[in-house]
Amino acid sequence: MSVAQPLVARMRDFGTTIFAEMSALAVATGSVNLGQGFPDTDGPAEMLQAAADAITSGTHNQYPPGPGTPELRRAVAAHQQRFYELEFDPDTEVLVTGGATEAIAAALLGLVGTGDEVVTFEPYYDSYAACIALAGARRRVVTLRPDGQRWRFDPDLLRAAITEQTKVILLNTPHNPTGKVFDRDELQLIAALAIEHDLIVITDEVYEHLVFDGEHVPIATLPGMRERTVTIGSAGKTFSVTGWKIGWVTAEPALTTAVRTVKQFLTYVNGGPFQPAVAGALALPDPYYRGIAAQLQLQRDVMCDGLADLGYDVIRPQATYFATVDVHSNAVEFCRALPHDKRVVAIPSSVFHDSDAGDTHVRFAFCKRPEVLAEALIRLKGSAQ
Ligand SMILES: Cc1ncc(COP(=O)(O)O)c(C=O)c1O
Repeated sequence: MSVAQPLVARMRDFGTTIFAEMSALAVATGSVNLGQGFPDTDGPAEMLQAAADAITSGTHNQYPPGPGTPELRRAVAAHQQRFYELEFDPDTEVLVTGGATEAIAAALLGLVGTGDEVVTFEPYYDSYAACIALAGARRRVVTLRPDGQRWRFDPDLLRAAITEQTKVILLNTPHNPTGKVFDRDELQLIAALAIEHDLIVITDEVYEHLVFDGEHVPIATLPGMRERTVTIGSAGKTFSVTGWKIGWVTAEPALTTAVRTVKQFLTYVNGGPFQPAVAGALALPDPYYRGIAAQLQLQRDVMCDGLADLGYDVIRPQATYFATVDVHSNAVEFCRALPHDKRVVAIPSSVFHDSDAGDTHVRFAFCKRPEVLAEALIRLKGSAQ
């Protein structure tokens, strides 16, 4: 064995994530960090208190049950019923995971293997490529391109991406980094192809409640899709607790079992005291859910209007934490220079692509207090080309 190159071949394309590099640069330069997507305000007070109580009461400090606490599984099932009229059995069709990240990994490792292909859309959330590679599978990407203020894909290219080897379509709606909300027609096309080719759809819906324009439609609600869809959710974004890493999967029993079989050997369980707190938060009344979207929409508008006023070519997101600008120059060079020149950190969207379609796109996170965004915008003066 050589220690010079100990990393397995299938992971050699994956160095340190861009987020680590840019966050380190943010600290070193005293920059406003609009790179990584995490909010700078806390989630609902009653949820935070419930977690603290769960720790100090000593009731939730040991391993929770493998699939998650019964109360959280029931709360997830009730949430899917309340918002989407989807029925899931909390005992056989709900699995609690170490954030959506573990759910993505366990779903891919449990459902695809060597030689299989996974079709996904680029730009893509960075863990997708790594987990597909870990599974020994191959990814085929369909490019989302801006068309005015909307991101679209070519249906013919999606059809062409599906081969005899395709096993899974990996969807993310609302979508990071573009902020796109896949509309019903697009989802119907994806569903029709999944049914025609007998594919499983893994859908990452962590931004389901952070929608400003359009409507989030879970693909599992479309006819014929519930039985072939693995839906992934997370408390991180909905309740502004990205560090808690409480996620979940809802799917019919055989799919849930496949994901759980892998998940039990990754973390086994996590976040004992956070599970009852998230269970309570999921039952918060509608004004909470409307409030978080409204607040974030305000932040989106501050950021997008501000960037446009500075002369940036902004693509306004329909949802999520992120806005994209076209800097009409190399995005990686732009983002590496920005902390030094302007003391602001952003992420080059090109790192979320296989193709060169995002080479001039830069992603700014706007999930920050309006005064932080205002400061970033002041610093960004004169940075647009
Ligand atoms: C699209 C997408 N999926 C999954 C995750 C990770 O979710 P979690 O923090 O619950 O693991 C993120 C976080 O940024 C994301 O943007």
